[in-house]
Amino acid sequence: MDIKINKVAKKNRKILENLMQLYLHDLSLYFPIDFNSNKGLYEYDLDPYFDNNYAFFIKSNDDILGFVLIDDNGDNNYEISEIFVLNNYKCKNIGENAVSKVFNKFKGNWTIKAVPSSPKAESFWKKTISKYTKDNYKLLHTGKYDRAEFYFSNNK
Ligand SMILES: CC(C)(COP(=O)(O)OP(=O)(O)OC[C@H]1O[C@@H](n2cnc3c(N)ncnc32)[C@H](O)[C@@H]1OP(=O)(O)O)[C@@H](O)C(=O)NCCC(=O)NCCS
Repeated sequence: MDIKINKVAKKNRKILENLMQLYLHDLSLYFPIDFNSNKGLYEYDLDPYFDNNYAFFIKSNDDILGFVLIDDNGDNNYEISEIFVLNNYKCKNIGENAVSKVFNKFKGNWTIKAVPSSPKAESFWKKTISKYTKDNYKLLHTGKYDRAEFYFSNNK
């Protein structure tokens, strides 16, 4: 499937907020995430992604397949803070394809911290980063959840 990544315009913030709820609910399978019962939602501050960080929809034609959030930590240091592919589209290489496009857009030092306690997320990142970097990356496991952290540079 041909996909593209499109920067999320401010006028489409509500769509991203809706998708974020599905994403956080998915993640809560792996570790506890606070649910605000008064509002009936998970809290997530998206303000930075309409300021100095970046939010992209993953799209095919007009269909939204998911999203990617990127933190710009300055001096060409970037981090993928969140990635989500809707269930209908999972395991079709869409996540990998989207991430490669993001890496090609921002050249510098990359950090990726996989969701803790999710073997699926860790194997996704291992597959995607080892292919993109031709195995030229560093992998650490840290903290009480033994969280996988990947580091590489693509600024050459
Ligand atoms: C992780 C995620 C973004 C991957 O997107 P995707 O489009 O399904 O990924 P791809 O098709 O490119 O790659 C799939 C790979 O991810 C892993 N994977 C993801 N979901 C999996 C599943 N349900 N079962 C088995 N492996 C899975 C495998 O390594 C698989 O590789 P393979 O197809 O060669 O076996 C998607 O599953 C998702 O949105 N998950 C919920 C949110 C999440 O965990 N985000 C990661 C935050 S760090």
